[in-house]
Amino acid sequence: MGRYFIETYGCQMNLADTETMCGILDGSGWSRTSEVKAADLIVVNTCSVREKAAERAIGHLQSMAALKKNRPELIIAIAGCLPQHRGPDLASRLPGVDLFIGPDNYRQLPEMLAGLTTPGSPGEHSGAGAAQGSDDGGELEQAKELDRFYLRPNKKETYGDINPVRERNVNAWISIMRGCDRLCTYCAVPLARGRERSLAAKDVIAAAETAVVDGFSAITLLGQAVTSYQDEGRDFTWLIDRLSRPSELRRLWFLSPHPADFNEEMLTLIGERPVFTRHLHLPLQAGSNEVLDRMRRGYTREEYLELVEMARRLIPDVAITTDIIVGFPGESAADFRATVSLMEAVRFDSAFMFAYSPRERTYSARFLEDDVPHEEKMARLREVIDLQEKHSWASYRALIGSTTEVLVKGPAKGEGERYFGRCRSNRATHFSVPEGKEPSPGDLVPVLVTDVTSHTLSGEMKIE
Ligand code: SAH
Ligand code: SF4
Ligand code: F3S
Repeated sequence: MGRYFIETYGCQMNLADTETMCGILDGSGWSRTSEVKAADLIVVNTCSVREKAAERAIGHLQSMAALKKNRPELIIAIAGCLPQHRGPDLASRLPGVDLFIGPDNYRQLPEMLAGLTTPGSPGEHSGAGAAQGSDDGGELEQAKELDRFYLRPNKKETYGDINPVRERNVNAWISIMRGCDRLCTYCAVPLARGRERSLAAKDVIAAAETAVVDGFSAITLLGQAVTSYQDEGRDFTWLIDRLSRPSELRRLWFLSPHPADFNEEMLTLIGERPVFTRHLHLPLQAGSNEVLDRMRRGYTREEYLELVEMARRLIPDVAITTDIIVGFPGESAADFRATVSLMEAVRFDSAFMFAYSPRERTYSARFLEDDVPHEEKMARLREVIDLQEKHSWASYRALIGSTTEVLVKGPAKGEGERYFGRCRSNRATHFSVPEGKEPSPGDLVPVLVTDVTSHTLSGEMKIE
């Protein structure tokens, strides 16, 4: 046992998984350090969703591996979506990495590490977690090599019984499902995280209760398509109904719902219960029906617009944000204009926008030609980013003069006496506080909005 340093790339699910890994490691006698130099074990939890994110993590791991020159006993592990998606292909680029661990194999961490730190054991241990083992024991060299890989998908694994170690913060992430069965044609997530499975409702409820008892004021439920949550007939509506009843909890949010699964009942509930954050992240991806179909998104442009209209009707002051991909295979100039016109019609409050990047083994990388030239993709990306910047500005500026309820995170770094938090619809908010009225993290305070940028609100805390 010793000290470990862990860092995370990718989405909130990876952040939540890091907390699960911390729970497993701490439970087996390891202790966390924030100093890379003090670590006996470095874990990098990685993302494979786009080429850029993957390459950044690989470069970083290569520089970490250089630390081994002076400290050969240092253990380096790559965890998460990248090793599971790319598997042993990555090994030649990461010779200094000792362990490749997939998202369904974290429970075996203590066992893997014991195998590495017990003298003589590498190559001799059973390879219980190895992706491919040879039944006859194989060559010793091959067994040693395979001992680095713990990439076995396990569609039953939910970590529902593991207590995550959360950093002291206001918000607790709770993964309510793992994997994804939607199989959008461009997406590496199903290859990295496997089949969809939901945590037992009792485990989700217990996790939420523990978070509240531990002093968290906000909970965010996580999954790649949370709206398809299902546990023995209990669906997402059942779950959020149960979790949004009056309690000590101040904010409840979820990420990401899938536009094809939303229904009026869910939206009505969200609109009626004050605990819900007034923010829906509704990943659009594209505005052309042909492209949506080739992406296998499961909705049309018209259905998406109807959903936005219904959400705005049923949830007062809701902020709607999205994800957009430009330059998907076969995206013509007219298809792209359909994305632009849909953005104009909806006027999103903010958006994450990406140029299509083909990912190994996905349907689109295998069967659809990446035929939009790089410069054209970049020009389209620039255009949607500029358009969104205008929409974000307008959406934020409209709030000047209004009062919003802010969930306080704490003092704003480097801003003197100012504080930072999230408004009712999740916008980052910086505000000044009258002397002697300093709020605590987790408090809800009214803030008069006096100024904005396209990404933040700025204001003054009001005294009631
Ligand atoms: N489960 C979420 C998305 C998770 S991935 C959902 O369905 O909305 C986050 C975002 O990355 C996606 O919404 C998409 O916009 C983007 N993305 C995923 N794969 C991509 C690829 N191959 N190229 C470019 N962007 C991609
Ligand atoms: Fe990927 Fe689609 Fe699943 Fe989202 S819903 S994770 S985009 S396959
Ligand atoms: Fe990336 Fe895995 Fe999340 S691929 S986006 S870290 S689920």
